[in-house]
Amino acid sequence: MDEFDFETLAIHAGEEPDPVTGATRLPLHMATTFKLPGFGIKLFDALMMDSDRPPFAYTRWGNPTLRALEDRLAALEGNEAAVVTASGMAAVSALLFTFLNSGDHLIASEVCYAGSVELFGLHLPRFGIQVSLVDTSDLEQVKQALRPNTKMIYVETPANPILRISDIAALSAIAHESGAILAVDSTWAGPALQQPVALGADYVLHSLTKYINGHGDALGGAVIGSAKGIQRIRKEGLVHLGGALSPFNAWLILRGLMTLPMRMEKHCQNAMEVARFLEGHPKVRRVFYPGLESHPHHELAKQQMSGFGGMVTFTLKGGLGAAITMAEKLRVFSYATSLGHAHSLLFYYPTDLYIDAMPFYTPEQKQRIREWTGDGLVRASIGLENAGDLIDDLDRALRARTFRGLVGPLAYQVMKKVNKNAQ
Ligand SMILES: Cc1ncc(COP(=O)(O)O)c(C=O)c1O
Repeated sequence: MDEFDFETLAIHAGEEPDPVTGATRLPLHMATTFKLPGFGIKLFDALMMDSDRPPFAYTRWGNPTLRALEDRLAALEGNEAAVVTASGMAAVSALLFTFLNSGDHLIASEVCYAGSVELFGLHLPRFGIQVSLVDTSDLEQVKQALRPNTKMIYVETPANPILRISDIAALSAIAHESGAILAVDSTWAGPALQQPVALGADYVLHSLTKYINGHGDALGGAVIGSAKGIQRIRKEGLVHLGGALSPFNAWLILRGLMTLPMRMEKHCQNAMEVARFLEGHPKVRRVFYPGLESHPHHELAKQQMSGFGGMVTFTLKGGLGAAITMAEKLRVFSYATSLGHAHSLLFYYPTDLYIDAMPFYTPEQKQRIREWTGDGLVRASIGLENAGDLIDDLDRALRARTFRGLVGPLAYQVMKKVNKNAQ
């Protein structure tokens, strides 16, 4: 299907009309077990994952619905192969535990999805893996962190939740010159807006739960890369670690993927309108959106992304109290975690809480993060509703005053003290 454009691949790649019934949508294969086509050493080798497209035997190893999704994702990312997993975090752990051994060194973005940072900072060192967390948008920091045993550079761009942008092409050159591989978590852009493989990345990761599914009703994850590398991840990181995706989720995600290109266009349009509105709002201190000229990495985002995405983050002049009031007053936005859905979602990160959850951060890292986020950051996933309705909703909520907004910050300080004492 190489000759087709992205929009066509998003609908057709990996799916053929059913050869038996002619159905134009791939049937959902919920079977966990498949009758084998015979008995023999060759088949046994293939089942042991010595082939990158093993015969269907057991769904944790492969399944027709999962394979259709894998083939579509590989086509959309412009690489040879993909492996899908039960969640984005299962994809991250499958990648890391396949390629990193005790004694290896990993350089990773110091701020990225909290689950990933916690895995890097809290758990990898337990297995003898050395980890340097750096600001990957600063190439000097990355170069200085390199060691003879650096095996992988792991970058999330745009980074959750602070929307830092890292230069994929430059990082790929740094990684390859020192014999390391570059992995990019591209969840916040998705394949419609950013193509890390074309910029030199070896592996691309996605939480399929976000934009790729787009409807907020299925968890999933994926790693995309060379056929050989994906074969290793399938065997070591999926079959042995066990985070297999449900075929039902794969089927839903395939359905969601068909509209990804046009959904992303609308997410980008709405986010730009909301970001511009927030930038002029009297209750807002600072707005981060890669599409705004004021974003520190706007020029880089223009170079490496074909659109600026649906995520907008901002800080409030009224701090935590204003965030509590806003959360109470929103009617169109849901105050909720996650992102990339048709519904608009919004969540507040108090900086102290975020930093305290990461005991491995150095004082310099804490300072760098605080400079960006102030005392807290609102993360807004701008959905597909009418932009005017979203703006009105935010405006009403930002201007409101509530009793809880006044006493909330005090209650929060007390809670924090009690928690600290309980530890
Ligand atoms: C950038 C990024 N990567 C990975 C994940 C983890 O994905 P999942 O929740 O599907 O495990 C998330 C979740 O928010 C994310 O934002």
